[in-house]
Amino acid sequence: MENPIIIFGAGSLGQTALDIFQRNGVVVYGLLDDNKDLHGKEFGDISVLGETDDDGFLKLIGQKCEACVAIADARVRKRLVKLLNERRKVQPVNAIHETAIIAQSAGIGHGNLIAARVVVNPGAEVGQHCVIQSGAVIETGAKLGNYAHIGTGVLINSGVVLEEAVFVGTGATLVAGITVGKGARIGAGSVVVENVAAGATVFGNPAQKLQ
Ligand SMILES: CC(C)(COP(=O)(O)OP(=O)(O)OC[C@H]1O[C@@H](n2cnc3c(N)ncnc32)[C@H](O)[C@@H]1OP(=O)(O)O)[C@@H](O)C(=O)NCCC(=O)NCCS
Repeated sequence: MENPIIIFGAGSLGQTALDIFQRNGVVVYGLLDDNKDLHGKEFGDISVLGETDDDGFLKLIGQKCEACVAIADARVRKRLVKLLNERRKVQPVNAIHETAIIAQSAGIGHGNLIAARVVVNPGAEVGQHCVIQSGAVIETGAKLGNYAHIGTGVLINSGVVLEEAVFVGTGATLVAGITVGKGARIGAGSVVVENVAAGATVFGNPAQKLQ
């Protein structure tokens, strides 16, 4: 990447993205966050510059800088992607850790954050604007819809289909072949053995719907 990056989000995912870019030798211009308490905070020599809708920084994106959206809340991620698409006519770039292993035949869209030691196996497909945290495994042929959030150490087995904006908590296991509907949430540590309806929240082993 030739241009420096502006990272949207200065929380834990923003800091993860910063580390990924710096390890990859990509210059980070700064971070933006709507939490005013973070403004002026420094991570090494990189500062939190201001809010995510600051025109002074937004106007740099496109010609002089690239953008990366590193925010856990999928609704906020979606809003910022829309803002970048509409106001700056750009797509956010991927942040992929140098230790992630991505099969040659796997498909990776744009705007994804893929953390340390993630494995994406052959034929798997990752959509756009997903977050895949450290050590998660996306098995052969699994499909992640746009805005998926996969927690640390999650195991998504072969052929699993996640529709848009599915959240999978830390350490959960999804058995092969199931489908998880749009916007569903899987609790941390759950073992999911059957399809999950859109919008549902499930936890436990076997995972069951929250009444
Ligand atoms: C699935 C989840 C998002 C639901 O959050 P929520 O809607 O705020 O639900 P709550 O946390 O209020 O929990 C509701 C109930 O389910 C229980 N519960 C929550 N998570 C649970 C889990 N993983 N396993 C079993 N029970 C769980 C709670 O104890 C609570 O029970 P109660 O009603 O008897 O008090 C959340 O529980 C979760 O697991 N988050 C994962 C966090 C994580 O992995 N973060 C790292 C990646 S960013």
